[in-house]
Order: sequence, then structure tokens, then C-alpha cells
Amino acid sequence: MKATKWLIGMSVLIVLALIVFSFLHNTSTKYLSKHRSTGKVAQTQSVIDPNYAQPYRDQYHYSAKKTWLNDPNGLIYSNGTYHMFYQTNPQGNTWGNMSWGHAESSDLIHWKEQPVAIPQREETPWVDFWMQTSHDSKPVHYYGLPTTNGDAGNPNGKRFVFSGSIIKDTKNAAGLGKNTLIAFYTSAYSVAVRDDDYSKDSMGNFLGLRDVQEQCIAYSKDDGKTFIPYKKNPVIAAQAVPTRDPANFRDPKIVYDEAHKQWVMILAAGQEADIYTSADLIHWTYRSAIIREHDVGNGAWECPELIPMTIEGTKEKKWVFSISVQKGAPAGGSGMQYFVGTFNGKEFVPDTAQTLSHPKWLDYGEDLYAGVTFSNMKRTVMLSWMSNWDYVGEQKTSPWKGEMSLPRELTLVRAGKDAVLIQRPARELAQLIQNPFKMSDLKLSGTKAIKQFSGRQYKAEAQFSWNAKNRPDQVGLRLRVSQDHSKYITAGYDVRNHSVSIDQSNSGGKSNRNQKTNVQLNEKAGRIKLTAYVDSSSIELFVNDGEKTLTQIIYPNPDQPLDSKGIALFSTGGTAQISQFEVDPIASIWNNLD
Ligand code: FRU
Repeated sequence: MKATKWLIGMSVLIVLALIVFSFLHNTSTKYLSKHRSTGKVAQTQSVIDPNYAQPYRDQYHYSAKKTWLNDPNGLIYSNGTYHMFYQTNPQGNTWGNMSWGHAESSDLIHWKEQPVAIPQREETPWVDFWMQTSHDSKPVHYYGLPTTNGDAGNPNGKRFVFSGSIIKDTKNAAGLGKNTLIAFYTSAYSVAVRDDDYSKDSMGNFLGLRDVQEQCIAYSKDDGKTFIPYKKNPVIAAQAVPTRDPANFRDPKIVYDEAHKQWVMILAAGQEADIYTSADLIHWTYRSAIIREHDVGNGAWECPELIPMTIEGTKEKKWVFSISVQKGAPAGGSGMQYFVGTFNGKEFVPDTAQTLSHPKWLDYGEDLYAGVTFSNMKRTVMLSWMSNWDYVGEQKTSPWKGEMSLPRELTLVRAGKDAVLIQRPARELAQLIQNPFKMSDLKLSGTKAIKQFSGRQYKAEAQFSWNAKNRPDQVGLRLRVSQDHSKYITAGYDVRNHSVSIDQSNSGGKSNRNQKTNVQLNEKAGRIKLTAYVDSSSIELFVNDGEKTLTQIIYPNPDQPLDSKGIALFSTGGTAQISQFEVDPIASIWNNLD
């Protein structure tokens, strides 16, 4: 009996000891794997979905699995889920068959592609209206089967679903049901135009094909999963376009105007942006236009937005008017501008008489376009397409093409008499940042390779300063350095002329685009902070904590795209003090295998 008791006692002790040991062992391995110091900081390896493992596939920026992507559309937060809809071609990786693709995320960072949400419309009805456009001396007849074929082949009865936005109708203003998600998009097609001379042709003389754009609704009763076409589309017909140019009338963005208790829609209309208001989201009244004053006629305006904001640290309310312009951006081709003012319920009132003629640029690289902000969020978070209409056709990625920028939080700050936007990656990105490698109080003249780091996806941040006596000519970071150090991309500051640039001329990648893009800074502060978010084929560079940004698609070292994992600091022509430098590997978002 005694022996049995003793045996039971011992077994209990052994089991307890085993439990304690395994607990301690587990925690310590977890601790070690997180904090183990191997002397070398490398990218954490996780299992990446093979669909997203191509050498130039960005690992923490969203792209579609195997199709084309351009503008973000209908960005909205609803019931704990962020929805990103976007322009896609469900059938391939070139522009065409324009539809709304869809991805969802619970944290703004990890996105999961969903089925196409609003496909291009097919078998649509015959078009039949008269209109005198700004180019006509008398009304003409838009008459025939619509087509997305342009001039090629027979009319196909299809209409594209172009860019737009989504709002959540929490009060059932539209009568489609409480909390319905209502998508506003541009229906775009071409159709035959005829005159009223029936002597040779009973339908009138054929004058050619013309483009038509009108505003339509589709709505979702299942929180964004599926959309139902609205029966009485269009809600704003082409005949009503204030400029009388129905070929350029697109990209409706809707916002609620708290002060005047109304919905506001802004649309791009060639060289102007048109403002409408509505109480019920269905009937829209034209109120005013913002007329372009800078570089007039150089490409059309697209994807406008009116963003209500408060100047940081104050109660001062402003409305930021942002717009994408097809041509004439600082780095060439397409880019984004913004203007600060107020909204009186009918008109956007620019802050000064010079505001509209002096656009502020949202970004100075080649690759930030069509940015719009999320609806139904407390913060102002913008997502943009990372490309440029000037050369997107040359991008060679396959089977996908096109990707999104990081979601960026926008704040409006006072800068003297002006108010300016500051951009920072959304705070949610922090979760992807792994074991940082840090150095501080470094004196540098020349180039210093950071041997402890190797990787292709990371955040690199450095704070440089200098004194007048031994002032360097240039300071900065060499990114994506090849093993033999001969190829690299520079994110640098030219101390002599106060300009920050991304220079790809040594990247080894062939490109007939701008090899160097830059932004001029005003101050001569004697210091600069550069934060570069580097991914497989992109760099988003934030200057002085988001005062200015440069966004570039990169294709470094095409012969060996998996090389180029090095990073270096440089200071040429003098000595720089680097008070703080860190490089943080960023984990892939494509490891959520089903
Ligand atoms: C902007 C844009 C929009 C249009 C969409 C078509 O990039 O041209 O104006 O709605 O793309 O894909």
C-alpha cells in the first residue's frame, strides 16, 4: 500500500515536472527565436503563397493574383472589414473589360482577393438620346448598341464599370435598406452618333463613334460581397453633363457633409471637377465647378475627391480637394495634386486667390496616382495606384500588372499661412516590422555597407546632420545593392541644392523613363531624415516624417532579380553625423495560405 502511494506520488511529481519543463522550454525557444542574436539580421522566412512568389512581386503591397489592376475604387470600412475595390480586367493583365475587383482585410495590411464584385455590364440596352455637345453646332443622335470595342469590330453591347466610390447608407436615405453599401461608378461605352438627315439612311447619317460616360449605382445587401445593379440607372445621365462633353465625365466620389446635412458628389469633367449634392443619394443637383487653373489642357483631370479635414491641433475645419492629372506631374506623366480650402455647402472655396493656380503635389516620384480615401473611417487613409499612365504598358510583370501604394494616413498641418498634408504609412503596418537592426551616433565620410543586413523588403530610416565646416555634398542610402556592390538605387539628399531624389541610373535595370526623380526642399536646416519602404519592385520614400514623398516602381538588376539585397549609407564630399539608423525587415503579407 505504502509502495503504491509512493509510486503514485512520484508519477504525479514527474508529470508536473514535465509540464513545467515543457512550458519553460517553449517560452524560452519562442523568446530565443524572436531575440536570438546571430550577428546577421535576415528576412524572416515564412511560407509564401506560390502565386505571389515571383521575383518582382511586391511582398507587402497589394496586387491582384493574376490580373490587371489600376485605380482603387470604393474604399470603405464596414463591420470590422476594410474593403478595397479596384479597376481590374478579370480576363488578363492588360487594361480592358473594366470591372471592379475586390479584396478584403481585417487590418488594412493583409488583403485577401475576393471574386470580382462589379463586372463590366453585358447585353445592355440600345442607346437612344439626342444631345448637342460642346463640339456640335446642333443636337446629334446617340443611337445604337453600346460597345467597348471602340472602332474595332461590331458593337458588343457592353459597358465598362469605371472608377467610383462606396458609402454606407446608415439612415436608409436612398430607400434601399438601412446600412446598404451603395457603389457609385461611371458607366463608360462608345456608341454611334447620327444626324437628322434621313435622305440616305433611315437612321440618319453616321457621324462616327463617340465615348459616353454616365453615373450609375450598384448596391450591396451583404456588406460588400455581392452587388445588385440599380434598376433606374443612370442616376446622372450623359445628357446632363455640365461641360456638355459626355466623353469626360467620370469617377464619382461621395462624402457626407455634416455641416449642411447632405451628401456631396465630386466628378472629373475634363478641365474641371463638378460638384453635386443630394439628400437621398439618388437625385443629384449640380451645384458648382472647380475650374483648372494650372497647366490647363495638359491631359484631363481624373479621380477627384473632397476630403473634410481638421488642421492638426486646432478645431479649424478645411476641405482638401485632391485630383489626379493625366499629364504634367513633376516626374513626368500622371500624378496627384491637392488644394486646400473650405466648402460652403455648394462650392469649394480655395484658401487664397492663388490656390488653384499653384497646386501642391502629393508625391514627386513617377508612381502615385488615382489616390482616394477610405469611407466610414475616423482617420483619413488614402490608397493609390502605384504606376503612371505614361509607361504602364512597358511594365513587364506577369501574370499580374499593377499594384497599390501603402495605405497612407493623411494629416493636415499648419505651415505658416498655409496648410499642408503630411503623409505617413498607416500605423497598422507596424505589425509587419521585424527584428530591427540599429546603429546610432555614427560619423561617416564615404560609403558604409551594412554587412549585418540582407534583404529585399524592409524599412530603412536614417537621420543625417552635418556642420558647415565639413559639409558633405550628398548624404543618403544605397538601396538594393548587388552582391558585387556595382548596382544600387540611391535615395539621397543633395546638401548643396536641398533636393531629395531617388536615382535608378545605377540599378542595372533598363528603362526609358526618368532615371532620377526629385523634390526640392525649402529649408537649410543642416539635417535630413529619410525613411524608405523598399519592396521587391517599389520604393516609397518619406522625407522628414512625411513632409514630402517620392514613390517609384523599380526593377533592379533584371539579370539577377533576387540579388540586390544589400544596403549602405553614404556621405560624399564631407562628413555626416548619423544620429540614428535602422533597417527593419518587413514580413510578407502573402503567407495566409488557405
Ligand atoms: C484613372 C482612370 C479613371 C477611369 C479609370 C479607367 O486612372 O482613367 O479616370 O475611371 O482609370 O480604368
